[in-house]
Amino acid sequence: MALVQSGMRVGLGTGSTAKYAIEEIGRQLQSGELRDVVGVATSEASDALARQVGIPVEALDPRPLDIAIDGADEIAPNLDLIKGLGGALLREKLTEVQARRFLVIADHTKLVTRLGEKSALPIEIARFGFLSTIERLREVLPAGRLRHSGAQPYVTDNGNHIFDAQIPEGQDIAALERTLKGLLGVVDTGLFLGMAERAFVAAPDGVTELTP
Ligand code: A5P
Repeated sequence: MALVQSGMRVGLGTGSTAKYAIEEIGRQLQSGELRDVVGVATSEASDALARQVGIPVEALDPRPLDIAIDGADEIAPNLDLIKGLGGALLREKLTEVQARRFLVIADHTKLVTRLGEKSALPIEIARFGFLSTIERLREVLPAGRLRHSGAQPYVTDNGNHIFDAQIPEGQDIAALERTLKGLLGVVDTGLFLGMAERAFVAAPDGVTELTP
């Protein structure tokens, strides 16, 4: 974790891969290899983990973050991403957009030739009137479903629901993002476009560093 230096404010991602980064930063703070690092967590789960491993956590404020490190669900060749299968997309985007450097860590199964190839696109929607919002969404992305946790609709850390939609092949992704963000009831989408500076991708034969 040489990318994180003493004195930095670090955006802490969410998910099984970001967990390793949080644990490693905590370990280095404990050992004294790092000092005065402050984390901004992208979910309640990462907030709890960071505190548990000894990383002081602050709320997001308007100051830029030095760096943010997070996993991804899909990584396109230009490093556009789908994120949010873990449900943390809104806090992730709010945090990572403020980072001077946003780095992605993932395994090679996350690499795709086009976004939507393997994963659904998570779209966070307001709880109030969510069935009406889903009708509006289906006019843009007909294939999709409301995410559930057991029998109940899944609820994000922000008290919203998530609609997981299939992106059709040939879709203009930037246009899709604009359209979705313009829909009443949509809070944000799991499209992270033009945000990642590089990705560290692990494969059986080693780690590859990718740039857009
Ligand atoms: C959380 O909402 C997501 O954006 C995660 O960052 C993403 O799902 C990657 O998670 P894993 O590292 O667990 O695959």
